[in-house]
Amino acid sequence: MKTNPERIIIFDTTLRDGEQCPGATLNIEEKLTIAKQLARLGVDIIEAGFAFASAGDFEAVSKIAQTVGTENGPVICSLARAKQDDIKAAAEAIKPAVKGRIHTFLATSDIHLKYKLRKTREEVLSIAEEMVAYAKSFTHDIEFSPEDAGRSDPEFLYQVLERVIAAGATTVNIPDTVGYTTPSEFGGLIKGIKANVPNIDQAIISVHGHNDLGLAVANFLEAVKNGARQLECTINGIGERAGNAALEELVMALHVRRQYFNPFLGRDVDSEAALTNIDTKQIYKTSRLVSNLTGMLVQPNKAIVGTNAFAHESGIHQDGVLKNKLTYEIMDAQSIGLTENQIVLGKHSGRNAFRTRLKELGFEMSDNDLNKAFVRFKEVADKKKEITDWDLEALVNDEIQQTPDLFKLELVQVSCGSNSSPTATVTLRNPQGEELTDAAIGTGPVDAVYKAINRVVNVPNNLIEFSVQSVTAGIDAIGEVTIRLKYEDKIYSGRSANTDIIVASAQAYVNALNKLYGALLNKQKQQVTA
Ligand code: KIV
Ligand code: ZN
Repeated sequence: MKTNPERIIIFDTTLRDGEQCPGATLNIEEKLTIAKQLARLGVDIIEAGFAFASAGDFEAVSKIAQTVGTENGPVICSLARAKQDDIKAAAEAIKPAVKGRIHTFLATSDIHLKYKLRKTREEVLSIAEEMVAYAKSFTHDIEFSPEDAGRSDPEFLYQVLERVIAAGATTVNIPDTVGYTTPSEFGGLIKGIKANVPNIDQAIISVHGHNDLGLAVANFLEAVKNGARQLECTINGIGERAGNAALEELVMALHVRRQYFNPFLGRDVDSEAALTNIDTKQIYKTSRLVSNLTGMLVQPNKAIVGTNAFAHESGIHQDGVLKNKLTYEIMDAQSIGLTENQIVLGKHSGRNAFRTRLKELGFEMSDNDLNKAFVRFKEVADKKKEITDWDLEALVNDEIQQTPDLFKLELVQVSCGSNSSPTATVTLRNPQGEELTDAAIGTGPVDAVYKAINRVVNVPNNLIEFSVQSVTAGIDAIGEVTIRLKYEDKIYSGRSANTDIIVASAQAYVNALNKLYGALLNKQKQQVTA
């Protein structure tokens, strides 16, 4: 990788920093599905996880390295603290990738040195240098992050950066760990680094930032103007606390306003060449996939990927857009892959038409998943006359969701209405294949269903979020249910789509419970082998 690339490098950390946010926990299969989609999206680097953190994290990084880290695929990176065991685990996990990177970090702010690390500046300088040199003994591509750079003394930061570059760091990443800086401060920090680190031309300057004050994207764009060439971001902006800088916002800002940014990259103002390698048409699909698999819903007014991002409600706006789109639209919905919501299939459509349309929508599925999705499609087509692209996507996302097949929902029935107690009966098949039926009364139909399911599954948990969204307009629309439940300190999400929202609610709950139950079984297995 050149240290002064002519375009912006996109480093995606959805599977590392994004997955760190409460409730976004993904299993290995789900991480792999997202990594494959990130590769299709065209990200340059995938930070696949923190290999040393757990056996599961190690396996996920290693599997992604093996499957997605191909010759033409992205660089696969693992995070590591500036400690030998961490770095060794990262090196081992990324080994199967054709291009692998170790990303090691150590805090440099006085607050972190005094209260967290309890180390002097001298000690931090020598650990950083030593650990970068150690990482370099495994691979050429090394990234170093001085954690909390945004609140570090710039003079000390310059010294650290000079030493780690001399020790072999090829990328130096500047994190605004607590989302504290403002755009002009952050831009100034990058400018200072360029001017005061003597060997800075031997490394790429990267930025990483959190959105505590809602400034992460603005900070990054200012950093680009001052010499940053790698942006660390996540899909839908998920991540620690208020999240990370959102990939889709950065990429579309650089795309829509390329004439503004071109001169900062030494290009002609009018150059039409893309500023990133991202296939913008894959943005919407990637956003939906990450939202579905993490259970982290996207707010309707979210820039670029929110459901309202391209909707014009006021009469004045609608009138303007009908006369000429340029009046109120700065980008085309199709540029992020938001297709017209076409009516594509009906109950007479066959397997071939179904497969072909899914392929056109960019879904690559195994024959097994395709068969299961086709059965679901036929069930829905019997109830709903016209199946649109968005309906298809909702159904297929149910199949892509990787939940362990432990409890199976066989039947759900409710009786409710005014002047009656909502009552539910459910039948589930347990992992041993036995059919179990139970019933419960609740405050409403969903509550009754969940109570009945709890009586069968018998794993205590706390339902912390329940949401229903309609996929399309109309009385026969498919409803998508997303739920999150808590067990001890972990959150498990589940999702399902159905024309009957009670069935979708039951299935989403069973999906989340299966994840929880699977995690408990794994824990038991580990305890037995330990
Ligand atoms: O926010 C942060 O500082 C990080 C580092 C590990 C880069 O995530
Ligand atoms: Zn971070």
